[in-house]
Amino acid sequence: METNDEQGKELIQKLILTALDSRRRSYVPYSGFSVGAALLGKSGKIYCGCNIENSSFGATNCAERTAFFSAVNQGEKEFDAIAIVGGKAENGPSSYCPPCGICRQVMLEFCDPDKFRIILAKSKDDFCIYKLSQLIPVSFGPKDLGK
Ligand code: THU
Repeated sequence: METNDEQGKELIQKLILTALDSRRRSYVPYSGFSVGAALLGKSGKIYCGCNIENSSFGATNCAERTAFFSAVNQGEKEFDAIAIVGGKAENGPSSYCPPCGICRQVMLEFCDPDKFRIILAKSKDDFCIYKLSQLIPVSFGPKDLGK
């Protein structure tokens, strides 16, 4: 995914708008913190996810994992980028929402850490981009099991 040309910017903005839309579907009766994610598959298809909380808190699923598990269920296992937006439910996102450690580990299972891009956004015009290897630099992943 090119991130520095006009076409790349359009794609990034499409991912952010998809994540913002998905965020509206979050189920957050406990935290009130709504997160949306839009995951770009190598096929070009976009998979979205929201966080889904549970009264047994450990059963909560983050937006990012909802997107990954939905994509894998639909037959896609290779990805280029994910956009993430999050914040208190009643407001638009006022700060960036970095992925939690479990979600970073799930990304590592399916993505090349030096290529996969993580877009943290507050709006379609306010975002920053990291490579997965920046967010999980010393990792245990498929490579450590010979995969
Ligand atoms: N959450 C996400 O969906 N993604 C993250 O990467 C950070 C946290 C959710 C989980 C929970 O529903 C709420 O945000 C507060 O932790």
